[in-house]
Amino acid sequence: RTRGSPAERRRDMDAFAPGFLAVYESLKPSGEQRSKQEQLVDSLARSVRKECPHAQMHLYGSCANSFGTSHSDVDVCLEMETGAESAVEVLVRLADVLRADGFENVEAITGARVPIVRMSDPGSGFSCDICINNLLAVANTRLLKDYARIDERLLQLAFLVKHWAKQRGVNEAYRGTLSSYAYVLMCINFLQLREPRILPCLQAMEPTYTLTVDGTECAYFDRVDQLQGFGAGNKASIGELLWGFFHYWASQHRYKRDVISVRLGKTIRKQEKGWTTRVGGDRHLMCIEDPFETGHDLGRVVDRQTIWIIREEMERAATVLQNDDDPCATLFEPY
Ligand code: CTP
Ligand code: MG
Repeated sequence: RTRGSPAERRRDMDAFAPGFLAVYESLKPSGEQRSKQEQLVDSLARSVRKECPHAQMHLYGSCANSFGTSHSDVDVCLEMETGAESAVEVLVRLADVLRADGFENVEAITGARVPIVRMSDPGSGFSCDICINNLLAVANTRLLKDYARIDERLLQLAFLVKHWAKQRGVNEAYRGTLSSYAYVLMCINFLQLREPRILPCLQAMEPTYTLTVDGTECAYFDRVDQLQGFGAGNKASIGELLWGFFHYWASQHRYKRDVISVRLGKTIRKQEKGWTTRVGGDRHLMCIEDPFETGHDLGRVVDRQTIWIIREEMERAATVLQNDDDPCATLFEPY
């Protein structure tokens, strides 16, 4: 990868809006894919009931937060008392039941921060991750879904950014780049920072929804039907916003100084968070605050090498949007 020069001046990006909207439409899952997902969830629920009859099943991640593309997996969280057993022991037993019920490639991944069972469904081809009692993920899924209902430009921007990140190889948290969840938070924060604003800051408003998970309070204004048309004062098209997003991360974000915070709807100083020194192995080179688990930096996976890979890709994207003859195709070329 070579470092291109950052885009300095923008051309009229509105001209590319129809092309990008066509890409966005092609990424949205079809009705058929949705019903296949529902079938998978139903058959999974039957298997889970055998092993964990009292568990409540929640969908989270992109199958529930409305940012799912046709390639996204299905993320499931079981809410249950595990008694004397650890979550890992429950997952290992569950894996046996799932194998016996005909699910394929069933694997208990127990060493990760969040232990899961991963498997695939031979009928639909979908892959599925199951975890236990990760209710913060269920809460942040709900928050993202509510943001998505306020202005459709968030869905458009986030689908295109996720697609770009997957195509360009910068959507692999286990290899030092960012998770899809992190990219969606970056998109929300970007739209909160437009002038006039395109998205409000739901956590800064009077809470109408509150859930406390392990001592962490998840509270925000969730009556988003009252916020329809919130961003109408800003007419920016998806072309302009996409360019603005990459330009922001290529040239404007102050990596050494700032943290992006969806919780506050702005950027704050690393100093305020104590994210200036390396604590417990976290490098804090690119800081993205989790909206509820505020001590959690989603950029902590980024290291000295991968930060340049990400920044170079941001620059390439901004330059492609600025100069390329066919940005709707070139932006998403596999690296
Ligand atoms: N999550 C989290 N903290 C992280 C990563 C993920 O809480 N550091 C939770 C979020 O609820 C997120 C879900 O796990 O929505 C799934 O994460 P991820 O796979 O990154 O996102 P998806 O939205 O499922 O994206 P994809 O379409 O790529 O599957
Ligand atoms: Mg997922």
